[in-house]
Amino acid sequence: MNNETATIFETAFENEIYQGLKDYPKHLSSKYFYDEKGDALFQDIMDMPEYYLTDAEYDIFTNQKEEIANLFSKSASRFDLVELGAGDGKKTKVLLHHFFGKGLQFQYLPIDISQNALDQLESSLKKEFPNMKVKTVQGTYFEALEEVTSTQENSKIILFLGSNIGNLLHPQAVTFLKNVRQLMHENDLFFVGFDQKKNPQAILDAYNDQTGITAAFNKNILARINSELGGNFDLEKFLHWEVYNPETGTAKSYLVSQEEQEVIIEKLALKIDFKPWETIHTEISQKYDDQSIHWLAEQAGLEIIGEFIDSKKQYKNYVFKKQ
Ligand code: AVJ
Repeated sequence: MNNETATIFETAFENEIYQGLKDYPKHLSSKYFYDEKGDALFQDIMDMPEYYLTDAEYDIFTNQKEEIANLFSKSASRFDLVELGAGDGKKTKVLLHHFFGKGLQFQYLPIDISQNALDQLESSLKKEFPNMKVKTVQGTYFEALEEVTSTQENSKIILFLGSNIGNLLHPQAVTFLKNVRQLMHENDLFFVGFDQKKNPQAILDAYNDQTGITAAFNKNILARINSELGGNFDLEKFLHWEVYNPETGTAKSYLVSQEEQEVIIEKLALKIDFKPWETIHTEISQKYDDQSIHWLAEQAGLEIIGEFIDSKKQYKNYVFKKQ
């Protein structure tokens, strides 16, 4: 996620698009899928029957909320529930509802890069839980987490759901976990969702639906380049392509140029050539097994103190504390 690139333009978006399209093989970062249209497409993905991840985490929260509440309240009698990348908070609300009903002493601090997402979440929480303490924090994961850990006194329980960690290859995930660990205090907990290795066909179906929602989501990065940077990508000329390697557990998304073509991006003063069937790598969605998660925890200096699995054994939430 933190690809260092030489600064030649004003924004990270411009720099990374420029570097990624100049590189060989070409690549673009999935973090740029998410503008207003991308957020909406991701919501549609979460509602697709093929995209089992959301249902699986929902299943864990619905069926094991009491065990989760007990684990959390054992770590601290009063805590801040901090969520990295809260989005619409649909799954988290199951926990909030339960914790609130049990009278646990906590406040909810959703962090998101999108102020639009936070505003929507805040107003829906006000309706559903008028008396719950909520404090939204806009920013990137680490800026916001730093702010929260330096200004709020209570013990922290940090949520990182939806297998968002899967956008990182293992070495980057270790760095990410280490960075979070650095901001944790002794009794703080880190609660993370990990999609599990499973029948490779189920994974391919989840990332390559027949209706084309995932394809539109993947291509949204080209649409953003067109509208924000004056690009002239013809989205029809690119194919969404998903591969999954069952050995490494890495799913990768590509956009494949179906013909020789030239694309101009005015704001970057850039002309890019595509050979027939040339690729742009856009996303990684890593899948895990117990061994890889234990290895990640060990590398990052985290201890596993709990784990929860859904009824179909597709997905796990792990709970870590500082070793
Ligand atoms: C939000 C990163 C967890 O990789 O499963 C969904 C994004 N990409 N379909 C994932 C995504 C294609 C999703 N994460």
